[in-house]
Amino acid sequence: MIRSYRPSTRWRHVLRLLLAAVNALAISSVAGAAEEDDPYAKSRAAMVRVIEQHMAATRSELGRGQLDARVRTAFSAVPRHAFVPDDLSRRAYEDRPLPIGFGQTISQPFIVAAMTELLEVRPGERVLEIGTGSGYQAAILAALDAKVFTIEIIPELGEAARTRFKRLGYDNIASRVGDGYDGWPEHAPFDAIIVTAASNHIPPPLLEQLKPDGRLVIPLGNPFGAQQLLIVRKDTAGRTTTRKVLPVRFVPLTGRAQK
Ligand SMILES: C[S@@+](CC[C@H](N)C(=O)[O-])C[C@H]1O[C@@H](n2cnc3c(N)ncnc32)[C@H](O)[C@@H]1O
Repeated sequence: MIRSYRPSTRWRHVLRLLLAAVNALAISSVAGAAEEDDPYAKSRAAMVRVIEQHMAATRSELGRGQLDARVRTAFSAVPRHAFVPDDLSRRAYEDRPLPIGFGQTISQPFIVAAMTELLEVRPGERVLEIGTGSGYQAAILAALDAKVFTIEIIPELGEAARTRFKRLGYDNIASRVGDGYDGWPEHAPFDAIIVTAASNHIPPPLLEQLKPDGRLVIPLGNPFGAQQLLIVRKDTAGRTTTRKVLPVRFVPLTGRAQK
């Protein structure tokens, strides 16, 4: 009779421990290699921890106390230092907005994370961003496997972001220069829309281009004063509900929004 070999319970336990030790060694050497390749890996990990502390502290406002695992992976992967001017790359992982030229800023990482969480992006969804700026928020959305469409009104910023997307290999981002107030009708409707500049009203074309079941996030209020991050949800019947989430401070949405 042929008997299959079955290790005793004790031996199975020892084998499992050995396997876990081999795995741990492999993982730590990969992490070590990643750190050698990417001198920013440690500061990026620290930034993610700070974002998570903010998330916990704003649990009641945001409606969740921790980062979604996919969002955490995106923030751990996207190289924020590649989206700031060279002379600021050492400060890229501080949890603060930084100047990107033309009087504009790359937003604070925690605020980018909060807006991303509110959008609840699923893989393959179409997401429109108004206010490309550096391109960092678009890259985070792209890392969530969305199809990203982003519009920037300042030509120099829009062109620089487009070059950056190409260099970094974000081929699921389409970008253009123009006034985002009118959205991007050729690519509508969108599952989610994010406006990363402040306005005293929601541009009606953006609401029209939002799918039923869609989400829109915008800093609403005085473009030069007090603003609230607003989440707008459109239900399957096309009705919208809104909720004010957090006080924020964004640069103004310019162009038609101010006319
Ligand atoms: C706070 S910055 C955006 C940060 C950006 N999302 C990032 O990840 O770096 C706001 C951007 O919105 C742009 N903007 C303002 N009004 C706009 C409009 N009507 N259409 C498109 N972009 C606009 C500004 O030029 C600026 O680059």
